[in-house]
Amino acid sequence: MTDPLSGSFGTETVSPEERRALIRRVFVEVAPRYDVMNDLMSFGIHRLWKRQFAALAAPKRGETVVDLAGGTGDVARLMAGSGARVVVVDPSTAMMCAGRRPDDALEFVAGEGERLPFGAGTIDCLTISFGIRNVTHLGEALTEIHRVLKPGGRFLCLEFSRPHAIIRPFYQAWSSTAIPALGAAIAGSPSAYRYLIESIRRFPDQPAFAHLIEQAGFAEVRWINLSFGIAAIHIATKRNA
Ligand SMILES: C[S@@+](CC[C@H](N)C(=O)[O-])C[C@H]1O[C@@H](n2cnc3c(N)ncnc32)[C@H](O)[C@@H]1O
Repeated sequence: MTDPLSGSFGTETVSPEERRALIRRVFVEVAPRYDVMNDLMSFGIHRLWKRQFAALAAPKRGETVVDLAGGTGDVARLMAGSGARVVVVDPSTAMMCAGRRPDDALEFVAGEGERLPFGAGTIDCLTISFGIRNVTHLGEALTEIHRVLKPGGRFLCLEFSRPHAIIRPFYQAWSSTAIPALGAAIAGSPSAYRYLIESIRRFPDQPAFAHLIEQAGFAEVRWINLSFGIAAIHIATKRNA
């Protein structure tokens, strides 16, 4: 499987290992202000998207749910009230520490999408929100997600996607100017936020990403556009053996 993310970091061409190290640094830099920046950049809309995402994941009592690239744990927290065991997996201890609360019912585990710390067929549902475009090897991560899910297990991915043509010019203007400016003013890191925008631009559109999910072995792949396709939720199932 060709990897559409490989070799890119912003406008520079870098090796996968350099890209991996740079992404780690981005999330150390932005961790303390990550949640507030999301609210400012999206006018709070990311919270509505995440609520819809968690509702579609529909975790149930007794299930094990992994929120991969879970960062500060906001999506995982929306699912924790269900009675399911909810595990946040993220390579960035800075992001997880920024979100951790003393009374957390969540589990936090350091790990990355390409090498998940779970046995084959052990997870009922795996969610990933605004994380898949940061993995170093997209194809490997999708195959690994497929490996850890139980037969019939659910995979849900919330990610920025290709907006409808009518709003594309406004969206591009906002993302290329206002977001790096906010990144500089609030998080003190315009380059980190320029990277985030560039990674959104390079990410496959809705049908192309659905095709990659199918190539990893998933069935029933579909997607739901959010806010005219600015973001999309892809949903897929691991076939019963
Ligand atoms: C934009 S944040 C998303 C956080 C949270 N899920 C949300 O929706 O706000 C992306 C996260 O992906 C994580 N990440 C980076 N590389 C990763 C990898 N190879 N595997 C899994 N997560 C990764 C980062 O550490 C970061 O916490």
